[in-house]
Amino acid sequence: MPQIKNISIIGGSGQQGTPILKALLLSKHFTITAITRSSSPSTSPPGITVTRGDYSSSFLESALKNQDALVIILGVAAPKDLQSRIITAAASACVPWVLPCEFGPDGASREMMDGLPVLAAKKGVRDEIEAAGDSGWLGIVCGLWFDVNLKNAFFGLNIKERTVRLYDEGTTVLSTSTLDQVGCGVVKLLSLPSEKLLKYRNSFVYINSFHVSQLDIFHSLLKATSTEEAAWKVTKVPVHNAITEGRNALAAGDYKGGLDMFVGMMFKEGAGGDFRPKSNNGDLGLVEENLDEVVAQVVKKVEAA
Ligand SMILES: NC(=O)c1ccc[n+]([C@@H]2O[C@H](COP(=O)([O-])OP(=O)(O)OC[C@H]3O[C@@H](n4cnc5c(N)ncnc54)[C@H](OP(=O)(O)O)[C@@H]3O)[C@@H](O)[C@H]2O)c1
Repeated sequence: MPQIKNISIIGGSGQQGTPILKALLLSKHFTITAITRSSSPSTSPPGITVTRGDYSSSFLESALKNQDALVIILGVAAPKDLQSRIITAAASACVPWVLPCEFGPDGASREMMDGLPVLAAKKGVRDEIEAAGDSGWLGIVCGLWFDVNLKNAFFGLNIKERTVRLYDEGTTVLSTSTLDQVGCGVVKLLSLPSEKLLKYRNSFVYINSFHVSQLDIFHSLLKATSTEEAAWKVTKVPVHNAITEGRNALAAGDYKGGLDMFVGMMFKEGAGGDFRPKSNNGDLGLVEENLDEVVAQVVKKVEAA
């Protein structure tokens, strides 16, 4: 199998797609095509080919001809069957490698699969790729996006309001990545020599910026905000309660409340949010980031907003 050269990305204008596209461009190793909807308001950076269309089967198959790899990073607003149609087109166009829309929790963890219904659909897509047999999947597991989720106070730490809500004692470790680190990880993976890449065929690839607990993040926040613990209101919730209440909220149609189920699962001891032993950073040559530096950048953004 030849070394990857031609890469297509679908959703490259999005929150995670943008840094992936930026990292692919910066590497200067690849010829990049951004496949986008005719109706998309997005603009693409110079140096890439942009293929706009209606996402019909014929459009997708033609757009994916001669591609070595396809990165799919669609938003939740995308039609539920779109990924399947893309997979079928990629198989018809004989694209050897597909990175399906994973980019989050560990789908190899049984407890995570059982606890987060959204992961079932992701497994369905992986199964479809395997069943078609023409492409191999590479599932990026990056944990929760660190910078996005800290900025939005989704880790239980609210920078603006100076509140901390710890799951249990706040010591459970979470493997997590910034958006930029995911971009770097994708480039490192797709730059691997083909015989090394084959090792990852139809399996997950674990990347991270760092492995941290809520308390680690809190202590870093104290440094970045030059505050003492006394300036923050700290509360605790048993993680089991948070997950159950989040699940009930979601069932009642409260998506914001449902977040507690998602984040709680990630901070539940032994559920798979901590994937330290599985991390492929070393194999990929992906260097961890510095927690204090990343936290300081997030604090700056929050305080400037
Ligand atoms: N790890 C985490 O913490 C975390 C958090 C949230 C999500 N995720 C994962 O990351 C994925 C991407 O999330 P994101 O926030 O980057 O997505 P996003 O920014 O909301 O959207 C990504 C792209 O999807 C395309 N898109 C949007 N609506 C569409 C539609 N109706 N039909 C077809 N394409 C459409 C757009 O591309 P064009 O305009 O170019 O067509 C858009 O730029 C999610 O699906 C999820 O798997 C991970």
